[in-house]
Amino acid sequence: MREHIRIDRRRIGYLDSARRAAGSPAVDTRVLLLIHAFPVNADMRTDQVEAPPAGWRVIAPDLRGFGDSDADEPAALDDARPLPPSLDDYARDVLTLLDVLGIERVVLAGLSMGGYTAFAVLRRAAERVHGLVLANTKAEADGGEARAGRREMLALLGQAGVEAVVDRMLPRLLSRETRAQRGEVESRVRSIAVGNSADGVRGAILRMMNRPDSTPLLGRIACPTLVVASEEDEVTPLAGMRALQHRIAASDLAVLRGAGHLSNIEQPGEFAGAIQRFLAARFGG
Ligand code: MLT
Repeated sequence: MREHIRIDRRRIGYLDSARRAAGSPAVDTRVLLLIHAFPVNADMRTDQVEAPPAGWRVIAPDLRGFGDSDADEPAALDDARPLPPSLDDYARDVLTLLDVLGIERVVLAGLSMGGYTAFAVLRRAAERVHGLVLANTKAEADGGEARAGRREMLALLGQAGVEAVVDRMLPRLLSRETRAQRGEVESRVRSIAVGNSADGVRGAILRMMNRPDSTPLLGRIACPTLVVASEEDEVTPLAGMRALQHRIAASDLAVLRGAGHLSNIEQPGEFAGAIQRFLAARFGG
């Protein structure tokens, strides 16, 4: 079940494993915070929230305009403003959620756009991150071709709505094998994504398009870090993930077989196993 907080009048929804365990002893003091990819929402994290690693509380927020979180005011999504929408907005929301929940530090995990957001959180408040999981993501900013693709996506969204954007993206989000043999996985991703608001999707495209290069940050990441890559990821291919891991000092790499871009949905067991091994090795269980 989703919980929510309000900042001014804006609602932020989130999944929280602690609510599921209400009544059981409060041993779950360590927090793993999972940030979702585009164009899905916190529902991509239900497997991890429903089966948290022993001794860990798992929280998965919906970013602005996704799932149960309110979108920005439409005027804030004007790309011609002097200060266009930025991933810093997502980072601020994540940090405010932690403040409201009274959580000082987390192991922060982001998949793809969730990873871009994790970099924004690190830039603002590295002291609140004592461990990091970067899954199927990249540190580089969009180049010219990628930005042109984002512009096309914005036009498609304006003309044909969220479903058209989701259908354009779906073939790249899952491995060929998953799409051919496990139609239910593709249906799940589609049904999560089409429920998101057009303003949420527009805001995310603008924020990803405007995001800074995070490669200078990689050498400064000092906390234990797990990089999760998939063998069949077309969006953030394995070679790039290996390069990312090499630039982070205290890092491990897990490569998931039989997974494309949305690795935690395609291979939830392997994904959870990689996280559990990392937490046990680096945080003692
Ligand atoms: C995601 O999975 O979050 C997106 O594919 C990332 C992107 O488009 O850069």
